[in-house]
Amino acid sequence: MSDSTVTLHRHGAVALVSLASHNPLNPLTNQLMTELGRVLHALDTDTETRAIVLSGSSRSFAAGADIRAMAEMTYARAVLEDYLAAQWHAVSVVRKPMVAAVRGYALGGGCELAMICDIVVAGESALFGQPEIKLGLVPGAGGTQRLPRAVGKSLAMEMNLTGEPINAAQALASGLISRVVADAQVVDVAISVAQSIARHSLPALLAVKAATTRAFEMSLAEGLTFERSAFHSSFALEDQREGCEAFLERRPPSFSHR
Ligand code: CAA
Repeated sequence: MSDSTVTLHRHGAVALVSLASHNPLNPLTNQLMTELGRVLHALDTDTETRAIVLSGSSRSFAAGADIRAMAEMTYARAVLEDYLAAQWHAVSVVRKPMVAAVRGYALGGGCELAMICDIVVAGESALFGQPEIKLGLVPGAGGTQRLPRAVGKSLAMEMNLTGEPINAAQALASGLISRVVADAQVVDVAISVAQSIARHSLPALLAVKAATTRAFEMSLAEGLTFERSAFHSSFALEDQREGCEAFLERRPPSFSHR
């Protein structure tokens, strides 16, 4: 589709999904978020993909929700339509590991989209921020919830209350992202991280992501119970037998993803 806002390229078991709006800043329009949710759902349920890289343009990962649409939004419409809820839910329920490759702006919904991903690789140009306050708005897709869990209260409050962004070095120091590389290498490095994930057993990867995600959603006791159950369940996998036997036989494992 020529006016598609999302493109898909395959690198073996890794799918590279790129936001490719006609505006290179990638505002998260209704069309873009709907297409993104559809593409991610298809990748999440196919048998070929084991990890997903989510990238923007070279200038901007995403500049946030569509301010043009929000300029006309009313309280009644937002509440009755449950504005943003369904589209963002579709993105946040992906079970396969997702690596964000961020160059340039990750603002508002752009920062929130990067935080939904499991790992964030950023280029030196990256800027992460929640500028909603400058628009008279509250962040609507995780800025007040995922950001403090990622960077702690003080920095999250500073970002949310001032609306000022942090750069890649500050994002790395605060734990918002896992690596900073040269902009020209961001997508390649993100793909390479995703490939080193994708060589493992898919059902085990799903369980590890689900359990690690619970660390941000449950009490420690509940999370540990969830983890123990996931650990016990992994003994039902053919891949568990293969992984342990391959180690003892000093050979690489050959996973069947069962
Ligand atoms: N929505 C809609 N259009 C946007 C946009 C957005 N989020 N961000 C940029 N644009 C548009 C601009 O209106 C402009 O359009 P025109 O050329 O038609 O005038 C075009 O993109 C280029 O923008 P700028 O001229 O502003 O580009 P710049 O290089 O000077 O600045 C920028 C880049 C710093 C990213 C700046 O565009 C900017 O601050 N954008 C808004 C960022 C923002 O506030 N995001 C949060 C949105 S609210 C949200 O995301 C809610 C939520 O939690 C989900």
